[in-house]
Amino acid sequence: MTSDLAPELCRPERNAGCSLDDLTKALGDLLEGEPSKASGAAVAELLRQYAACEGSWRPYVTFREDTYSRNLIWRTDKFELLLLGWEAGQESPIHDHAGQQCWMAVLEGELEEVHFKEGDLAPAGDGISGLRQGRVKAFPTGGVAYIHDDIALHLIRPRAGQRAVSLHLYSSPIDSCRKFCPDTGKAEEVNVAYHTVRGSGCSGTDPELIRDAWIR
Ligand SMILES: [Fe+2]
Repeated sequence: MTSDLAPELCRPERNAGCSLDDLTKALGDLLEGEPSKASGAAVAELLRQYAACEGSWRPYVTFREDTYSRNLIWRTDKFELLLLGWEAGQESPIHDHAGQQCWMAVLEGELEEVHFKEGDLAPAGDGISGLRQGRVKAFPTGGVAYIHDDIALHLIRPRAGQRAVSLHLYSSPIDSCRKFCPDTGKAEEVNVAYHTVRGSGCSGTDPELIRDAWIR
């Protein structure tokens, strides 16, 4: 990680010759153009190709002891691209995706995805009847996962004892989502934040300032 992020540096330009920036441009062509072009299969294929042969993400990923890291790579009003760094033993909360689409490409290590469904509302009491766990699936390096709220809630974690790195594409960007208590199923709306923006630390920066800086 480099120096703390200055607000005026929140919205960089693409670097010529950086294949990660080439990916953001290709994603923009798909997701910011005609809706008919933005097929999920085409997006997944771009991510699969990137994950198969590129290491240009390495300068931008960080790892933290307290939580998995969220590192912003690119953001428009149509999509957001983040690198997540997972230390061994970390996992995301069970969460939804605020009605947006999410693709996840595994760049290093292996990640496990666990699906959940919200339980039926109980007729009395606190109205909560927990979550139902669905399938568990492992994604090796190079694998690409896709999820939307109509499919399931999920949690993500690296394979036991290992670090991992993943690339997450949200379309549209997600500024808040619901996280769920694994025991009761109770949902809580949470705002999401970033730990770095293109390699610069920003943990103390209001995410709203960062988002504003990326508006063209
Ligand atoms: Fe997710």
